[in-house]
Amino acid sequence: MNTKTVNAVELAFVDRGTGPAVVLVHGFPLDHSMWNEQIDVLSADYRVIAPDLRGFGRSGAGGDTITMEQLADDLAGLLDALQLHEPIVFCGLSMGGYVAFQFQRKYGARLRGLILCDTRAAADTPEKAAARREMAERVLSDGPQPLVDGMAPLLFAPETVENRPEMVESLLSVMLGTDRRTIAAVSLGMADRADFTPELHAIECPTLVIVGQFDAISPSDEMREIAAAIPGARFAEIPAVGHMSPMEDPAEVNAAILEFLGGLS
Ligand code: MLT
Repeated sequence: MNTKTVNAVELAFVDRGTGPAVVLVHGFPLDHSMWNEQIDVLSADYRVIAPDLRGFGRSGAGGDTITMEQLADDLAGLLDALQLHEPIVFCGLSMGGYVAFQFQRKYGARLRGLILCDTRAAADTPEKAAARREMAERVLSDGPQPLVDGMAPLLFAPETVENRPEMVESLLSVMLGTDRRTIAAVSLGMADRADFTPELHAIECPTLVIVGQFDAISPSDEMREIAAAIPGARFAEIPAVGHMSPMEDPAEVNAAILEFLGGLS
């Protein structure tokens, strides 16, 4: 992996291929490796940049609270450090989508396109935010296990759990390997994140919304509404998979992404 120091943190990232840039932003508490199947395929025609966000994977730690805005600022800083000034396509899954909304708000002129995978535009309810803050305390004292125990049943469609146990195990091991301070800091940041629903209608760049049919964290109906609110957005529901659609059915997700990218001017 490559590294660059951005906003006083060393960020690790994959940078593969040449052509128009596509930035793949992982979910929580994961790292760039969730995109391996996309990196392999998309890098044949595009420059694929897949970072580990601050505190995750091989990137350096930073902060007691890590906001979605901070993560968006880090990505803008990474693009600057790479001297990548032409507009990019930003593809984010779940937490990566929360960062995408922030990036769009603050750095919209740097976007050529937006791909929102298995994510939500709404803020946390007060109950959900309180549960996140409680979990942040718990993870700081007990480590990631309680968080992983709570999330694991929600991540994959039952078919995936049955047919691809190694892939499921490897994702859970990334989660368990994530620094407890990062999990706590980002949980606090997610609990405080803004509601982007009122801003969806103002998104101007071409947008693709992707969701697994059985996503239990960012339900398909809710994502369909996000797509309906963004002018001209396309909607792709991936059959028979859950929240981790790019890992569960990479062929379908890659096809949807490639079709979208191919249609951009
Ligand atoms: C993710 O996959 O990034 C998480 O489910 C996001 C969240 O906890 O809201």
